[in-house]
Amino acid sequence: MAHSEKLTPVLEKIDANLNIAIERLQELLKIPSVSTDPQYSSEVRRCAEFIVDDLKSIGLQATLHDTIGHPMIVATDDSAGPNAPRVLYYGHYDVQPPEPLEEWNSPPFDAAVIEGENGKRIVARGAADDKGQLMTFIEAIRAWKETHESLPVRVVILLEGEEESGSKSLVPFLNEHKKELQADTCIVCDTSMWDVNTPAITSRLRGLVYIEATLHGPSHDLHSGGYGGAVVNPANALTKILGQLHDDLGVIQVPGFYNDVESVSAEQIEQWNSLGDADVLILESSGAKATFGENGYGTLERLWSRPTCDINGLKAGYLGEGAKTVIGATATAKISCRLVANQKPKEIEKSLLAFLEERTPIGCNWTFKSHGTSPAITVPTESKWLSAASDALTNIFPNPAVLIGTGGSIPVVGEFQHILGVDAVMVGFSLDDDLIHAPNEKFEVSCFHRGIKSQAAILEAYASIND
Ligand code: BES
Ligand code: MN
Ligand code: MN
Repeated sequence: MAHSEKLTPVLEKIDANLNIAIERLQELLKIPSVSTDPQYSSEVRRCAEFIVDDLKSIGLQATLHDTIGHPMIVATDDSAGPNAPRVLYYGHYDVQPPEPLEEWNSPPFDAAVIEGENGKRIVARGAADDKGQLMTFIEAIRAWKETHESLPVRVVILLEGEEESGSKSLVPFLNEHKKELQADTCIVCDTSMWDVNTPAITSRLRGLVYIEATLHGPSHDLHSGGYGGAVVNPANALTKILGQLHDDLGVIQVPGFYNDVESVSAEQIEQWNSLGDADVLILESSGAKATFGENGYGTLERLWSRPTCDINGLKAGYLGEGAKTVIGATATAKISCRLVANQKPKEIEKSLLAFLEERTPIGCNWTFKSHGTSPAITVPTESKWLSAASDALTNIFPNPAVLIGTGGSIPVVGEFQHILGVDAVMVGFSLDDDLIHAPNEKFEVSCFHRGIKSQAAILEAYASIND
């Protein structure tokens, strides 16, 4: 489809400067901004400073704000004039830890560009989640400014450095900077596409409850010959309890777990099924040999509209090389539940803890840690902002944009609704096989390139919307 007179030269500039944009993204990816590990905190800060400098060089007003955790970045541009719509952009510049390092084919912070089945790709921790994605709107803004000097809309950018580690500064920061962050609409760029040629807007996110439960038995580790069969083994006891979380059909057994879960309309399921064969994509991108989950629901329905309860970590006994005959004094499980609309995170957390408490073996006791809770979020799909973004995507990609859900969580979207009163349009460019949070995370250059062009097209489309 033909693009407008103003957009065409911007898209041409993006094409011409793609290699420079890739190099800039590589520079950003070389900074190991791992937010969860205090050892990296100066790197997280260096990363924020790098981005602030870059935003200033484009001509934005950019500020690094210190918080009790990692810095927040806010940048604005009012070149569109006081009557233009104001668009809030969100991304996170922090990344997950790269471990296990030995699984990477090139070092996680080298940002190697290699050839893959869809052309070139950039391999690095954070390539798709979320540095490559946040650079799509920054590069689009750069190209607009370089071509026309001013932007078609007013812009405020918020970049977080704690998304991967609990976002503890987010709510206080949003409350404190509410005025500055006011916007008519918001683009959150941290989600995925349907496939490499099919862009997507995400309208539902799952919520999360995450606990760590330690079962304590004997006061210290014991010789398993001297004591095995005589006293309780916390590892045996814990795994037996964890085995009761689901029945054989994959249904969660925590009382009341499904009480607030709403069923999804037949039309919604039909729309999801019309997207294509999700099982093929899931099996391909996961390397699993079969799909599995709660009995009676299709794969997309389970992923996007059903809650889960998953063991995310297990620690007990001897985990080093070789064999050691030991009964460990404690056993620990990290357990997370993905939640869907209407489920109350605090209530689910309480029910889960009660489920474990009720099964406490004689001679044992629990200690629990909460790693946070967040509710599921749905954004309205009937907004002019969403439709305009969808049309813009459709104009850039080979296939039209589709509406999807995601099984992941982005708590900021709910906070934007509550605190700023703005619904996010979730537009993202990663693929299911980008290996986010895993070794060899990558971002396709074609996704990056089309992502930048889409963001440029969205900027233009939003100029003609009045609230
Ligand atoms: N970008 C992801 C969320 C995501 C994953 C969206 C896959 C779409 C597809 C985000 O950075 C993330 O990892 N979120 C965490 C949130 C948690 C730490 C509160 C998640 O979902 O586990
Ligand atoms: Mn992310
Ligand atoms: Mn993530």
